[in-house]
Amino acid sequence: MREEEVDFLIIGSGVAGLRAAIEMAPYGDVLVVTKDLPAESSTEYAQGGIAVALSDEDEVGIHYEDTLRAGDGLCREDAVRILVEEGPERIRELISWGAEFDREGTKLDFTMEAAHSRKRILHAHGDSTGRELERVLLNKVRSFPSVKKYPFAFTEDLLVEDGECYGSLVRVRGELSVVFARATVLATGGAGQVYSRTTNPAVSTGDGMAIALRAGAVLEDMEFIQFHPTVLFAPSAPQFLLSEAMRGEGAILRNIRGEPFMKNYHPDAELAPRDVVCRAIVSQMARTNSTHVLLDLTHLDETFIKSRFPRIYATCLQYDVDITKEPIPVSPGAHYSMGGVKTDTDGATNIGGLFAAGEVACTGVHGANRLASNSLLEGLVYGARAGRAAVRYGTGITGRRRPLRLRPARDKGVGTSSGTKVSKFDIEEIRHLLRKTMWERVGIIRCAESLAEARSKLEEWSFILDVPFGTRRELELQNMLEVSQVITESAILRKNSVGAHYRSDFPKKFEGWKDHILFTNEKGARYESIP
Ligand code: SIN
Repeated sequence: MREEEVDFLIIGSGVAGLRAAIEMAPYGDVLVVTKDLPAESSTEYAQGGIAVALSDEDEVGIHYEDTLRAGDGLCREDAVRILVEEGPERIRELISWGAEFDREGTKLDFTMEAAHSRKRILHAHGDSTGRELERVLLNKVRSFPSVKKYPFAFTEDLLVEDGECYGSLVRVRGELSVVFARATVLATGGAGQVYSRTTNPAVSTGDGMAIALRAGAVLEDMEFIQFHPTVLFAPSAPQFLLSEAMRGEGAILRNIRGEPFMKNYHPDAELAPRDVVCRAIVSQMARTNSTHVLLDLTHLDETFIKSRFPRIYATCLQYDVDITKEPIPVSPGAHYSMGGVKTDTDGATNIGGLFAAGEVACTGVHGANRLASNSLLEGLVYGARAGRAAVRYGTGITGRRRPLRLRPARDKGVGTSSGTKVSKFDIEEIRHLLRKTMWERVGIIRCAESLAEARSKLEEWSFILDVPFGTRRELELQNMLEVSQVITESAILRKNSVGAHYRSDFPKKFEGWKDHILFTNEKGARYESIP
């Protein structure tokens, strides 16, 4: 097996991973491994923008309060304070590196999104904010000769021994390599692909969460999945996100009879919290016996729509929907994982030398429901913090950093196979059924019965975890299954409704709602009280 030794290893190349790389680059050689092309991440597809208290009418204290309110009582306050206080500096720095956010004259232009009490969302090229961030960060990373990238390199497992991480086992073009590192940062993004309807790109299969879990890391609050209300629902069209900024600019939700309905559900109507909007849409779809509702912008000026939402306009037109002339068919989809690998505010996990940042991590910054457009900011702020912490950790080690025995978290040596033959056909069928089960049973509205059904379905497929798979598609499926099991078990344990987790059989905040749920492979799901 090929072996390589680096100072710092980063798994994932979205905003958090790249921002971490920039911190680490002056202190040693950095390797960024990513299972697809470097730009293929959730960051690249983020439309709406990045929330930051930088406008004349705004204050970090108001951003702090809005974030806590959206998190519905479960945010970690110190983590939120760091986010809102360090956010402005991270944005100024990004602008100094060449980021071009949209401006009104010479001033930055801020837009509105749900649950923000100020216009504070920066955007770029109308609706391509994430792409702009990715462009600037990749350029910046390229300026450091100490950083190299391995695309199409799938991280199968972390190398762990006695609670320490020594790097990872990476598969490139079918060949396994070992990468030894002084410190490793996980920045693999979310797990939206475990749901059959999702805004997430194909790469978001929960890999980082699953490999961390197998390595002995703690996953926290995995039941909190944010569903986005407006995902394109047109024949043969991809599940394309229709940014909340459209509702921020005045778009109206109507049922298929053309009736607006959001005012009946919440005083903030279209700008109510996402979980409220999603449940309203689900109830309207049931009432009208329809697969979707409509997002209507036709009352807005055509030139404004085309200049403000150029990517959305062009994409919808490709699927024969002219958003300036007709309402857009939409329905919700899984969007963001508030939970993830438990970290402190420096991205440190419970495993020595292993850090996590961005959607894969749970710093507690989002609580039970993320405030819109806080995730790119989190990637910048916590990517930089994890990068700095990993440097402190890695530079404190003298000599070579290797485990005594070369053993990945999941030993896949010869003989570990259960002997079960699993065909390509089975893999695709299980993947399809898993995503459907999660959507129908562990989706926007859950209850004990639906969750128990999901649990038993997932259990039926558990045999695939013992098969020594080797292709990306197969390995992703194993990760998706493990992550789905954690989401389901956590959702079963949380017998109350808070933030994005809605139990129709426990529709309120019952006693214990303020506790967090931790999951480890050793102990399963359990509650932990807020300190
Ligand atoms: C959107 O543009 O609606 C997504 C932004 C976000 O989820 O933060």
